[in-house]
Amino acid sequence: MRGRFIVLEGIDGSGTTTQLDRAVAFVGSLGHRTVATREPSAGPIGRLLREALHGRLSMEDGSRIDGRAMALLFAADRIDHLQREIEPHLAAGTTVVSDRYLLSSLAYQAEEADRTWVATLARGILAPDLTVLLDLPIEVAARRREAAGRPIERYDADSCLAKVAANYRELAREQPAVVVVNGAATKDEVTASMCRAIASLFASAQEP
Ligand code: TYD
Repeated sequence: MRGRFIVLEGIDGSGTTTQLDRAVAFVGSLGHRTVATREPSAGPIGRLLREALHGRLSMEDGSRIDGRAMALLFAADRIDHLQREIEPHLAAGTTVVSDRYLLSSLAYQAEEADRTWVATLARGILAPDLTVLLDLPIEVAARRREAAGRPIERYDADSCLAKVAANYRELAREQPAVVVVNGAATKDEVTASMCRAIASLFASAQEP
C-alpha cells in the first residue's frame, strides 16, 4: 500500500518545524514507516531558494529576484522534491510528512505574482492526503520568531504575513483535506490537535 502524504503549513513562526518531528513520531507510534522532509527542499533548487530567502542573492543595487521568478523556483523545487524524494517514499509504502508544500506557494506567491497564474503552476501536482494548517495571529508568530533569534527572511514583514495568513484561511475553506489547528495554543495542545487529524486520516484509510 502507498504511504500517506501529510503536510504542515502556516506563516513563519507558526511552529511547523517544531511540530514536524512530533508528527513523524506520532505516525511511527501508529506502526507506520515514516520520514520527515521540508520545502524549500534539500535539493539544488531548494538550496538556491534558501540563499534567496536569506537575502544572499541580492544584487549590489539591492534588487532582489522578481516574485514571478521566485514562484517558478518554488514550483521547480517542488517537482524536483516530488521526483527525488516524496514519490519514491510513497511508492515504497512510507508515509511522508513535509514542513510546507503546495499551500505555501498558493498563500505566499499570490502576494508577489498574479494569483491565477500561481494557481496554474500548481495544476497536476500531487495533492497531499492531509494538510494541517497552524493558524495564529501574526503578532504571536512575530514574537516567536524574535524569541528564537531567527534571521529576517524575504516574507517576514508583518504587512506581508497578514496577507499570507488571510490567504491560508481562504485556501483552507476552498481546498480539500485541510484541517485548521489553533497555532497560538501551547506546543502540546497543537500536537494533540494535529495528531487527532492524523489519526483520523489513518482510520479512514483503513475503512473497507
Ligand atoms: P521556513 O519554512 O521558515 O524555513 P527556514 O526555517 O529555513 O527559514 O522558510 C521558508 C520560507 O519560504 C517561508 O517564508 C515561506 C516561503 N515559501 C514560499 O514563499 N513558497 C513556497 O512554496 C515555500 C515552500 C516556502
